[in-house]
Amino acid sequence: MFLTNEEQQMCDGEFGETIRKSMDILVALGDIYGASKLVDITSAQVSGVSYKTIGDAGLEYLEDLALDGSGKASVNASLNPPGTDLDNWEKLGFPKDFAVKQNQIVDAYANLGISKTCTCTPYLVGNVPRFRDHVSWSESSAVAYVNSVIGARTNREGGPAALAAAIVGKTPLYGFHLAENRQANLVVNVSCELKGADFGALGYIIGKFVGGGVPYFKLQNTPNNNDLKTLGAALASSGSVALYHMENVTPEANLINSDEIEDIMFISENEIEETRQKLSTTDRQPDLICLGCPHASLEEIKQVADIVQGKSIKNKLWICTSVSVKATADRMGYTKTIENAGGNVVCDTCMVVAPIEDMGFEVIGVNSAKAANYVPSMCGLDVVYNDVENLIQFE
Ligand code: F3S
Repeated sequence: MFLTNEEQQMCDGEFGETIRKSMDILVALGDIYGASKLVDITSAQVSGVSYKTIGDAGLEYLEDLALDGSGKASVNASLNPPGTDLDNWEKLGFPKDFAVKQNQIVDAYANLGISKTCTCTPYLVGNVPRFRDHVSWSESSAVAYVNSVIGARTNREGGPAALAAAIVGKTPLYGFHLAENRQANLVVNVSCELKGADFGALGYIIGKFVGGGVPYFKLQNTPNNNDLKTLGAALASSGSVALYHMENVTPEANLINSDEIEDIMFISENEIEETRQKLSTTDRQPDLICLGCPHASLEEIKQVADIVQGKSIKNKLWICTSVSVKATADRMGYTKTIENAGGNVVCDTCMVVAPIEDMGFEVIGVNSAKAANYVPSMCGLDVVYNDVENLIQFE
């Protein structure tokens, strides 16, 4: 991979150890994937934050990287969800030992200049690249969103690679950074209208089929932003989709002639319904309903507030979101309405990266196919998959 003089000096340690180690990662990646050079990025999003997933080894790595204080993020860089609500972990019943370690991890990232935004929907709260910007994002649902809905360019980075890119301000130029790799290779014709959890079911079916391919969707109705983030998260979890296009919806769709794509898949209402059923692992009632995967938007919190207004919820209810979105929900009175009904708006974390398996829950109700896919494998708990209005039970 070609390196400029300055990049070579970074590799040689002339800008300090943090930058040298970061360059090591980027150059190794570039060599593996045949990148011609590094390209400047405008934004980074760094995963690998929960103590549950990175443990003490991850914390040591971060503290070691920051040791000589020689490098900090040089672009707008935000963190993925940690394993706790950083401010309210005690009130919500998170284990103390876990919470202490979790705060150390987030502080270590902050020492490296990564903002404590702590969300998988940074595009809702200030980390919003422009069309065709090169970026380095690592949360898979956010990668699908930023590539597809915004039209910025990133590969599905690992956490350490996105962190290295954030510090250096560059990433290797290969894969989805190149226009020729952003073409679709499968047309998905959906014959029924979709709403709510149908989008997750569609993403789950197509992700499984297409793997790391690029699907081009033709739908009967126009999805909103929440539907698009749900769809992308599902595509990225059952498969490894990093980019999709949607006729008349996503910004690069009109650059593609779908008539030239040979592979076509037809999806009917029956397949969507069957997949919705399959995503549940039990017919027991959920003891925790956990919404906000990916992290909830303000509209999604309002939707829940409208459903529970003046009622008393039987099961426990968490809506996971970022601190910024919750601050507005507080001002709008949505949080109070939800709390009065017995639910909680939970910041930072989510049902997959939180240690919910150690908090006494057995069956988790979700409206996200990504969560339905991961809660059984990562938490060892059962899930019920449905729309919000069907999950919440009242006294
Ligand atoms: Fe976000 Fe957690 Fe889902 S990180 S996409 S809420 S699994």
